[in-house]
Amino acid sequence: MLRKIAAVTILAAMTAAFVAAPATAKEGEESKHATKDVMKVAFKGGLLKKVAGGDASDEEKAKLHAMLVSLSKNKAKKGEADSWKKLTSALVKASKAVVAGEADAGKALTKAANCKACHNLHKE
Ligand code: HEC
Repeated sequence: MLRKIAAVTILAAMTAAFVAAPATAKEGEESKHATKDVMKVAFKGGLLKKVAGGDASDEEKAKLHAMLVSLSKNKAKKGEADSWKKLTSALVKASKAVVAGEADAGKALTKAANCKACHNLHKE
């Protein structure tokens, strides 16, 4: 519970301007964003592309990072937990590097966001 409060506080601070999806994330108790929402907003919706392309504001970068942290806390309905952890940690790491302004972080983010590789293993 304390961990949940801490995580929510940090995410809220990072994404102050972002109105979160309903906090009833079924997939992960500590997660604020359901996998479906992350897919719709970040992956399909273009946020990830914008951030990876270097055109995003600091706020958008922080929002994406927060969503990917949530994704890593969600459970995949299909596939190995270890594999899910590996794929989502790479996304968290790359988006963190973008927030930190590291060179080539956008490229690493694009590479980590391999739609097909992850869907083949983890999408029902
Ligand atoms: C780390 C793993 C992962 C990556 C990378 C990933 N996805 Fe997904 N995606 C999923 C999973 C898991 C689901 C199924 C979610 C569910 O049904 O709860 C999903 C579902 C979706 C959906 C359906 C959402 C819905 O409303 O049911 C879309 C659209 C989608 N992904 C787009 C993308 C695109 C585009 C990319 C690449 C730019 C991408 N995804 C990369 C894991 C991933």
